[in-house]
Amino acid sequence: MSGMIPDMENYFRGFIPPRDALLLALEEEATRESIPIVGPVVGEFLYILARAIGARNILELGTASGYSGIFLARALPPGGKLITLELSDAMARRARANFLKAGLDQLVEVREGQALDLMAAMNGTFDLIFLDIDKESYASALPHCRRLLKVGGLLIADNVAFAGADSFNREIFGQKAWRAVHLLSFLPQHSPEKDGLSLAVRVE
Ligand SMILES: C[S@@+](CC[C@H](N)C(=O)[O-])C[C@H]1O[C@@H](n2cnc3c(N)ncnc32)[C@H](O)[C@@H]1O
Repeated sequence: MSGMIPDMENYFRGFIPPRDALLLALEEEATRESIPIVGPVVGEFLYILARAIGARNILELGTASGYSGIFLARALPPGGKLITLELSDAMARRARANFLKAGLDQLVEVREGQALDLMAAMNGTFDLIFLDIDKESYASALPHCRRLLKVGGLLIADNVAFAGADSFNREIFGQKAWRAVHLLSFLPQHSPEKDGLSLAVRVE
């Protein structure tokens, strides 16, 4: 039986997925300005999950500069759509410019405002929801996620190792509408690199 790979964290830094010039520029900008983006590993994870489930309609909470949204939108089939919600007008403007640069502006709609209010006014059925706003709002966003996600749809929540996500973690784990798993992970270039991700499917 073989042992574990030594110096695992450095070893896995060697498997960070390649990115194009736009994503690399957004990463540099995020480092410079302390914008807490998901980074290349979780970005690729989002792309893979969205592709694997054939997501056509995606909702993102927390756009920032559009970095994670670019991964999600690139996973969409022709005619698919990403709606992404952002509190800050300045960030929403930057994200729109970045989606345009990425050639994704026809697939992406950035809506400005408090995500919980915007969700309360929304109808429609999403295949995937990505939750990445202030962690204290995760638990309050959960009933909206349940209403807006199709049965069988996927809810992905970032940063669930933050103390503010505790009530969300407990809620989703305890509700029979969801089957959920929390993964404590090493995520190179994620903010922070050791953090939790929650994956849940709406089962009813
Ligand atoms: C962690 S960053 C999002 C990073 C982005 N998902 C990425 O990886 O590229 C969180 C963003 O959500 C916004 N935000 C925080 N709380 C929010 C809320 N309650 N409603 C809408 N946007 C919110 C912040 O302004 C910030 O731009």
